[in-house]
Order: sequence, then structure tokens, then C-alpha cells
Amino acid sequence: MTILVTGAAGFIGYSVAFSLLERGDRVVGVDNVNNYYEVQLKEARLARLNQHDDFRFVRADVGDPSAMRDIAAEFGPFKRIVHLAAQAGVRYSLENPMAYIESNLVGHACVLELCRHTEGFEHLVYGSSSSVYGGNANVPFSTEHRVDRPISLYAATKAADELMSHAYSHLYDVPQTGLRYFTVYGPWGRPDMALFRFTDAILNDRPIRVFNYGDMRRDFTYIDDVVDGTLRALDRPLFRSNRHPPHRVFNLGNNRAESLLDVIDVLEETLGRKAEKRLEPIQPGDVPETYADISAAAREIGYAPKTTVKEGIPRFVDWFREYHGC
Ligand SMILES: NC(=O)c1ccc[n+]([C@@H]2O[C@H](COP(=O)([O-])OP(=O)(O)OC[C@H]3O[C@@H](n4cnc5c(N)ncnc54)[C@H](O)[C@@H]3O)[C@@H](O)[C@H]2O)c1
Repeated sequence: MTILVTGAAGFIGYSVAFSLLERGDRVVGVDNVNNYYEVQLKEARLARLNQHDDFRFVRADVGDPSAMRDIAAEFGPFKRIVHLAAQAGVRYSLENPMAYIESNLVGHACVLELCRHTEGFEHLVYGSSSSVYGGNANVPFSTEHRVDRPISLYAATKAADELMSHAYSHLYDVPQTGLRYFTVYGPWGRPDMALFRFTDAILNDRPIRVFNYGDMRRDFTYIDDVVDGTLRALDRPLFRSNRHPPHRVFNLGNNRAESLLDVIDVLEETLGRKAEKRLEPIQPGDVPETYADISAAAREIGYAPKTTVKEGIPRFVDWFREYHGC
């Protein structure tokens, strides 16, 4: 089966594409390889994917409908799509809001149009986010909770994607699963995220900025568990007859809210160095806690994350040191 993976040069898209290739699927990857963070890291991920004979890459914008149609005409039809191209990051959405409108709203709509016009289309799995829960203080976050009170534009675009998906599944019977990822970390991770920034700063003797004076909790989820959950969802499409509209959303977290200070302790222990912590107020758009109730994903797709931060952080650090030669 040939699967289209959007955002294939990105952290999760690369990791999902890699696992699909390893298990014998053919993958067409699409990404615009933008410079939100180091292009070199995206190119390095693509270089690894390009070692597989069954991988094809097209540099394109998912928000360009004619480019998407051309890719489907040349390499498709794609009956299964994993859509992970997006403008990620809460803080950057205050700086460059239009990037979120273009990639997350227009891009998501173009992918939905592609699915709608593909004969015999089977399943779209797309990346949503824990940020849709906004300032919800009712933990753990359940897919039954309200998601109509976002506190950043990033979160608003992710919640809007879920609504657009619901409408397309209702109107055109497009089977879909939205995955609300919770703070994903691991090898080949994103340089704008806390664990990556902390590791880089500590190794280079720079202070680390710890927001909300350290009073933060995050459900840190290891990349292998996220990939496993994503493939489990992909392999278990909703059948139109099972549920109408054929659309569901799951939380893919680790089901543990880790204190940020505890995570820094594990990192310091792994690196064998102490961090110089600069305690600062919470940033606009940020939430103090995320914590995933994963019972629906466990029940419906057998999702069972295995990796604790004590196991995952050393694996991330090993990769970081090897990649940066330090
Ligand atoms: N990593 C996390 O902790 C996390 C948490 C919650 C949700 N998510 C979601 O998971 C998905 C993947 O995130 P990630 O962490 O891999 O981010 P990433 O930034 O590493 O990957 C996204 C990729 O999409 C590409 N892209 C962006 N806009 C594009 C466009 N218009 N056309 C084509 N390509 C485009 C980027 O170049 C990048 O390579 C996103 O939807 C993100 O919002 C991630």
C-alpha cells in the first residue's frame, strides 16, 4: 500500500514514515521544508528516508491545492493519508499568526479535499494537539471534555481542524481519526521544544529558562509510543457503517503528568551536569498542566505507551550527542 505522509521532514512525520517503510509500506512524503527551525535537521531526516527504495519525496505546500492534486495524479491515488504537516508551536503563534492560518487551516482543508475526491478513500489520520483543551483544569484531559476555549491561535487552528474534519466526515463520509499528541520527545526531535532547548543549553553552559517558576506539568510522550499509536489508528479505519459520521479523536499521551522540575532532574542526571535555572513567569498562550486520559485509545486501538521519562530522556540524549558530535 502507498501511504501519503505530509510533514515527512518533520519530527513525527519523519518517524511515522520511517516505521511505515520498515514494515514494508511504500511512502510518498510531502513537506515544504520551511525554516521555522533548522532546515539542516529536516534535510538529515529526509536523507535517512531517502535510503529506502520505497520512499519518494515531493517538496510542496499542503496548502496548494493544485500541487496536491498533481502529487496524487503522479504517485497516487492515496487511500490512506497521515497528515502531519503543520505550523507547530504555541509561542510562535503570537509572532507569526498567518503561518498557522496558511498551514493549519488552508493546508488541512486541502488535504480534506484530496481525500474527498479520491475514489474508495479509506482513512485520514491527522495530527491534533493537547493544546485544544485550553486552560482546562479538569485532569486528566478526556476526549469528552470541552475544546471550545483555546488560549492560543495554535490551539484554535487545531480545534478548527477537528471541526472541519467532522464536517467532511459527515458530508462526504471521509473516514478520519484525529490524534491529540501530548509533548512528544525523543531522537530526531524538535529544536523549539523544552527538552531539546534545555539539553542544548546545559551542554553549552547557558542558563535554561524555566517558565511558571517551574510549576509546570507535562504529559511527556516518547516518540516510539506516538508512532505505535499513530500506526494503530491508521491500521484500524472507522468503517462508514460502524459510526456516522466516521470521525473520532484520541488522546495520545503517556497518561502521566510529569513535573517539569523532575524532568530537569532526570536530564541533569543523564548529562552529568547541573542546569543554571532562570525562573520566569508563564508565557502567554501556555498552559500550566497537560495530562492525557488515554482510555478511549487503549480500548479502541490498543494504544499502550511503555516509555517512562527515565528511559526516554537518556535515549534522546544519546541521539542528541551523536547527532551534534558532542
Ligand atoms: N511534537 C509535539 O509534541 C506535538 C504535540 C502536539 C501536536 N503536534 C502536532 O503533530 C504534527 C507534527 O508535529 P511535529 O512535532 O512533527 O512538528 P514539525 O514542525 O517537526 O513537523 C511539521 C512539518 O510540516 C512541515 N510543514 C509546515 N507547514 C507546511 C505546509 N504548509 N506544507 C508542507 N509542509 C509543511 C514543516 O516543514 C515540518 O517539517 C503537527 O500537526 C503538530 O501540530 C506535535
